[in-house]
Amino acid sequence: MKWCHCQQPNHFQISRKLQDKYADLIMFLFSSHVFKLVTTKDYRRHLLKQRGWIIALIMFMSLFEIAISQNQTPEQESTQVLQLHYQDRHVVMDNGIFQLTLSNPEGFVTGIQYNGIENVLAYDGKEDDRGYWDLVWNFPGKKTKKTKGTLDRIEATKMEVKTQNDELIELSFSRTWNTSSTTAVPVNIDKRFVMLRNSSGFYTYAIFERLQGWPAVELDNIRFAIKLNKDKFHYMAISDDRQRYMPLPDDRIPPRGQPLAYPEAVRLLDPIEPEFKGEVDDKYEYSMESKDIKVHGWISTNDSVGFWQITPSNEFRSAGPLKQFLGSHVGPTNLAIFHSTHYVGADLIMTFKQGEAWKKVFGPVFIYLNSFPKGVDPLLLWHEAKNQTKIEEEKWPYNFIASDDFPASDQRGSVSGRLLVRDRFIRNEDIPANGSYVGLAAPGDVGSWQREYKGYQFWSKADENGYFSINNVRSGRYNLYAFAPGFIGDYHNDTVFDISPGSKTNLGDLVYEPPRDGSTIWEIGVPDRTAAEFYIPDPNPTFVNKLYSNRSDKYRQYGLWERYSELYPDEDMVYNADVDDHSKKWFFMQVTRKLANGGYSGTTWQIRFQFDDKMKNLTGNFKLRIALATSNVAELQVRVNDPSANPPLFTTEQIGKDNTIARHGIHGLYWLYNVNVPDSSLRLGNNTIYLTQPLAKSPFQGLMYDYIRLECPDSISYLTRS
Ligand SMILES: *[C@@H]1O[C@H](CO)[C@@H](O)[C@H](O)[C@H]1NC(C)=O
Ligand SMILES: *[C@@H]1O[C@H](CO)[C@@H](O)[C@H](O)[C@H]1NC(C)=O
Ligand SMILES: *[C@@H]1O[C@H](CO)[C@@H](O)[C@H](O)[C@H]1NC(C)=O
Ligand SMILES: *[C@@H]1O[C@H](CO)[C@@H](O)[C@H](O)[C@H]1NC(C)=O
Ligand SMILES: *[C@@H]1O[C@H](CO)[C@@H](O)[C@H](O)[C@H]1NC(C)=O
Ligand SMILES: *[C@@H]1O[C@H](CO)[C@@H](O)[C@H](O)[C@H]1NC(C)=O
Ligand SMILES: *[C@@H]1O[C@H](CO)[C@@H](O)[C@H](O)[C@H]1NC(C)=O
Ligand SMILES: *[C@@H]1O[C@H](CO)[C@@H](O)[C@H](O)[C@H]1NC(C)=O
Ligand SMILES: *[C@@H]1O[C@H](CO)[C@@H](O)[C@H](O)[C@H]1NC(C)=O
Repeated sequence: MKWCHCQQPNHFQISRKLQDKYADLIMFLFSSHVFKLVTTKDYRRHLLKQRGWIIALIMFMSLFEIAISQNQTPEQESTQVLQLHYQDRHVVMDNGIFQLTLSNPEGFVTGIQYNGIENVLAYDGKEDDRGYWDLVWNFPGKKTKKTKGTLDRIEATKMEVKTQNDELIELSFSRTWNTSSTTAVPVNIDKRFVMLRNSSGFYTYAIFERLQGWPAVELDNIRFAIKLNKDKFHYMAISDDRQRYMPLPDDRIPPRGQPLAYPEAVRLLDPIEPEFKGEVDDKYEYSMESKDIKVHGWISTNDSVGFWQITPSNEFRSAGPLKQFLGSHVGPTNLAIFHSTHYVGADLIMTFKQGEAWKKVFGPVFIYLNSFPKGVDPLLLWHEAKNQTKIEEEKWPYNFIASDDFPASDQRGSVSGRLLVRDRFIRNEDIPANGSYVGLAAPGDVGSWQREYKGYQFWSKADENGYFSINNVRSGRYNLYAFAPGFIGDYHNDTVFDISPGSKTNLGDLVYEPPRDGSTIWEIGVPDRTAAEFYIPDPNPTFVNKLYSNRSDKYRQYGLWERYSELYPDEDMVYNADVDDHSKKWFFMQVTRKLANGGYSGTTWQIRFQFDDKMKNLTGNFKLRIALATSNVAELQVRVNDPSANPPLFTTEQIGKDNTIARHGIHGLYWLYNVNVPDSSLRLGNNTIYLTQPLAKSPFQGLMYDYIRLECPDSISYLTRS
């Protein structure tokens, strides 16, 4: 079956098709940067010879076009004319570079014709399974373990042309909640698609709105998904060092694939391409932090065509710059996830109370297609897409968007300043917060941005001197939040900053004083909100993803949770804080131990250290700072020198359900605990701190530490200044 109900081709389409056919070569000849990419002299000479031939061909084509275009308006003679065709159940947007077909009025992307490929999408799939917005939702209290919420592919009921002129077409596919409905999600949704003249891609965004008085609801997941043609797109690129040829979706299905501890993870037993045999495929191995999700996608190397999702801003994504999302994965699938609970848990179920009004714009994101002529390495399409990403970032916020709910640049404000860190136990002067992240988010508590989702967040990275500039901020009320690598805790300025159109606020110097009582006696790790600096074992050779072999991010490998019991079959880790190297000794996650009977047990780690004569004079509470990078249904109990103390000196109680361990993350939510250790519990000579994680029902339960520090009592400088 064809991908759309095509009309009889008209004359214009015939001429366009012919032009398409030669577009490669024409583009090639006149595009100098591509020309430079072709490195061999012989090939250049060959091309130059071809040039005369091509010019003759173009002249011939022009004659042909004149002949068949007598009844066309002058605009249509340009290859750059924007057109909107109506078909029986579809609309087609066409700018001469590519054609985008959408079902009408549902607003599913059913076809993308580009560069001679009739449909880059999964053309054999159902029409609602190629390119679509969706959400997962439920009425509060209605969700059980079995019913994980309702998946809604957001079938619109009305199509409207919002803008149509020589430069752009914007279409709206909307659906209004029926106030008498008891079964539909109480949210109005308006999906938009924008095509520009002379642009090799399209923009999509959606406006979600709840009016006052509407029923309570919970939303788990909001995304725009694209499924590509699996016969063509085999090479996935999500960053400079995370790209590879991927297995096929068919390889995951038994008996070719064998599901592992959960269905997302599959071992490839008999893949169609033998090179993948024995590898593990799991989409979570490809998750990314929001701050890094700017461009990702796929390349069809045979067609020399790239398909990319470009996100110039993450203002609309939930939970700040460190929130992890899926991007691209086997399918070949390309996702723009705007909201999900991944790596956070139930705190990120979007919850709306009975009557609560809300409106948010998700996107726009840019879906970008690129191509090279034969002879140019198609893997360079990744670099070309990165170049396009810079262009999109410069265009942000897109001023051509038709919705009043998406403010243009002159409707936005900016906030700048400089962040300094004051830690007198490290330096007498304030320290520029080099590389810190500074952001505006809804007014809240310290660190509340990591659980915030109803509003927009605007983050920027400070330069070496701590200067930051947050631009293109939507009007609204915000607090300022920040965190700085090398320092524990969160900066929070609870002044409510009111951003208005065109406002430019310079806050001058702001000072963050991270928690600190006295000087450092010892520390374990680096305060950077991840466990990446600790000892990460190699994976079991049976469960390898070759991409991550021998790399610093090998924590993305499957099954590392089992390595702990293999390394410590009987006794738990003992770490000597005075001499051990955290990168060689500190296991990067405190997981459960697998027992011979198939069950699991909790674990108790020990930190040993010596107190010498100098300690005699110190009185009061020592402070143990424990920063956690994740917790999944875990509890941390702290005991000092008495492993059976009951109750323990400190417990977090059960915290967290971010599922970071199973999903190969190196962090989930950040937690900081400050534990008083009375001088009476310490002694001259050997001391031991016991860290117990007692909860043990699954292999995925446990903690990751970001950083641990023992400090002298108040204001006393012991080691660093003696
Ligand atoms: C709204 O829902 C009610 C009850 O299901 C139905 O009778 C009515 O036709 C619907 N209205 C619209 C505009 O669809
Ligand atoms: C079309 O876009 C290309 C690449 O962005 C640009 O170089 C060219 O000048 C544009 N042409 C027109 C007619 O706008
Ligand atoms: C690419 O082309 C080669 C040679 O024609 C063919 O063997 C191979 O199957 C093609 N690969 C894909 C992914 O289409
Ligand atoms: C990307 O841009 C850089 C800098 O302008 C340029 O040198 C490079 O050739 C471009 N790469 C591609 C693949 O277009
Ligand atoms: C800022 O931090 C980066 C990354 O850690 C480091 O490479 C650089 O040297 C730092 N610059 C200064 C001035 O401290
Ligand atoms: C918060 O910002 C205000 C306004 O710039 C400033 O006066 C105040 O010192 C800041 N507070 C903190 C805790 O940095
Ligand atoms: C990883 O390193 C080990 C030893 O350094 C080597 O034997 C192995 O081949 C490497 N694996 C890959 C996939 O490069
Ligand atoms: C401990 O205190 C005594 C008396 O206060 C003092 O003489 C001694 O120098 C101190 N020792 C250290 C190691 O600071
Ligand atoms: C203190 O610990 C060290 C190293 O762990 C050990 O060699 C020594 O025997 C211990 N001393 C006492 C008194 O337990």
